[in-house]
Amino acid sequence: MVKICCIGAGYVGGPTMAVIALKCPSINVAVVDISVPRITAWNSETLPIYEPGLDEVVKKCRGKNLFFSNEVEKNVAEADIVFVSVNTPTKTSGLGAGKAADLTYWESAARMIADVSKSSKIVVEKSTVPVKTAEAIEKILTHNNKGIEFQILSNPEFLAEGTAITDLLNPDRVLIGGREETPGGLKAIQTLKDVYAHWVPEERILCTNLWSAELSKLAANAFLAQRISSVNSMSALCEATGANVSQVSYAVGKDSRIGPKFLNASVGFGGSCFQKDILNLVYICECNGLPEVANYWKHVIKINDYQKNRFVNRLVSSMFNTISGKKIAILGFSFKKDTGDTRETPAIDVCRGLLLDRAQLIIYDPKVPEAQMMRDLSTPKFDWDQPGSTSPVSEDVITKNVKVVHNAYEATKDSHAICILTEWDEFKSLDYQKIYDNMPKPAYIFDGRNVVDVAKLRQIGFIVYSIGKPLDPWLKDMPAIA
Ligand code: UDX
Ligand code: ADP
Repeated sequence: MVKICCIGAGYVGGPTMAVIALKCPSINVAVVDISVPRITAWNSETLPIYEPGLDEVVKKCRGKNLFFSNEVEKNVAEADIVFVSVNTPTKTSGLGAGKAADLTYWESAARMIADVSKSSKIVVEKSTVPVKTAEAIEKILTHNNKGIEFQILSNPEFLAEGTAITDLLNPDRVLIGGREETPGGLKAIQTLKDVYAHWVPEERILCTNLWSAELSKLAANAFLAQRISSVNSMSALCEATGANVSQVSYAVGKDSRIGPKFLNASVGFGGSCFQKDILNLVYICECNGLPEVANYWKHVIKINDYQKNRFVNRLVSSMFNTISGKKIAILGFSFKKDTGDTRETPAIDVCRGLLLDRAQLIIYDPKVPEAQMMRDLSTPKFDWDQPGSTSPVSEDVITKNVKVVHNAYEATKDSHAICILTEWDEFKSLDYQKIYDNMPKPAYIFDGRNVVDVAKLRQIGFIVYSIGKPLDPWLKDMPAIA
C-alpha cells in the first residue's frame, strides 16, 4: 500500500488529501500538523475549515485510509510520498520584507524530513513558493541524506476556497514539475501522475520541469488577480461616465479570447494567495534585474488598494462627509462567499477605514466567528508598500465601536448605512423593505459585491451605491472623491 503523508493540515492540505483518500482507496493518507487544536478539530465533528462538501468526503474516509495526526515525524518517516503544504506568508522583516515569501516553515519541514527519513521519498511542494525553492529544498535534503534518495516535485494546487472539493474532483489541470532530465526524476513524476490518474483524465495532467511548475502557479494567480484589478479600474471609470460595469464586463467577456469568468467588479480581491503571490513575483523580478516587470505587477495590488479606499471614501462623502458616531451595518466579512477564511479580506481594510472616521460597526457574517473578526481588526496591519507601518486603529476603538451580531436584520436595525462586503447568497434575498423600515432616513446601501437589485432598492427608498453602476442621483451631487 502506497503511503502518503501531508505536512500542514490547512486550507490546502486538508481538502486535497481528503479527496486523494476518497479517490484512491488503496493509498493510505496521513495529514500531520504541529497545531494540536487543528488536528483535534479535523478529528472532530466540526472541521477547522468550512468548505462545501468537505464534511462528507472526510466522513467517508476518516479512520479508513485518511488520518489526521500530530505525530509529524513518525508519519513522515513511514511515507513514500511527502506533500509539504505549510504556510508561506510574506516576510514582515529583514531582507525582502513586504514582498518575499517567508520560507521558515518550509525549511524547517525540509530539515525534519531529512532528519527522520530512513527510506527514499518523493517530496512534493504543494504550498506556493518562489521559483527555485525546490532547488533549495533539494540541497537541504541531499546534504543531509544518509544514502537515501529524495526526489523533489512541484505540484502546485489550483483549488479556490468555497469550491475546493469540486475543483479537486474536477480540476482544469494538474501540474507536476520535476527533474525531467534524470531517470529518477521521471520515475517520481510518473509515481505522482499515477496517484492523480485514479480520477483525473490523463490529458489534464501536465508534466513540466520544476521551475516551470513553480512559476506557473505564481503566474496563474497573478493573471487572475490582474483580471479583477482590470475590471475594478473600469468600475471607477464607469461611475465617472455613467456606464454600467456589469454590461461592460458582459460585452468584453463575450469575446472568446477573453472569456466571461472572473470579471466581476468588487470592493477588491482578498484571500491568502493573490496579494502574497504577486508580491512574491515582484520580488523575484526585482532580484532578477527586471524592475519594469516588477512595477507592472505591483500595480495590480495598487489598484486593489485603491478600490478599497475608493469604497470607503465614497461612503463617507455620500453621508455628508461624516460618519462619526453613525451606525454602519457590515454584511459579510470573509474574503468571498462559502468560506469562513478572512485572510486579506477587503472587509478588514474597509472596516478599519470606517473606524478611523469614527463609525460604529455592527458586523454580521454567516461563517466568520466573532473572535476571528476582532483578531483581524486589531492585528497591526502590515503595509506591503511601506514595510514597518502598522494599523492606526487602537484596540480600545475596536472594542468600543465594533459589535458582532448573528443575523442581517439585527445588524441593519437602526443603522444609517449598510455595506455589503461579501457576496453571500443570503444577502440577495433579504427582506429589504423590512430592513428599510427599521433604518433612520436617508437609508443607504453600499454594495461592494453587486449583489442587490439596485432598481428595486431605489424604489423602496434606499440611496444605493453599487460598484461601477450609474450613480444614484443623490450621490451625483456629492463632492468628487479621490
Ligand atoms: C485563488 C485562485 O483562484 C486559486 O486558483 C488558487 O489556488 C488560490 O487563489 P481563492 O483565493 O481561494 O483562489 O479564491 P478566488 O475565487 O480566486 O477569489 C479571490 C478573490 O477575488 C476573492 O476575494 C473574490 O471575491 C475576488 N474576485 C473573484 C472578484 O473580486 N471578482 C471576480 O470576478 C472573481
Ligand atoms: P494553506 O492555506 O496554504 O493551507 P494554512 O495556514 O491554512 O495554509 O495551513 C498551513 C498549516 O501548516 C498550518 O496548520 C500550520 O500549523 C502547519 N505547519 C506549519 N509548519 C509546520 C511544520 N513544520 N510541521 C507541521 N505542520 C506545520
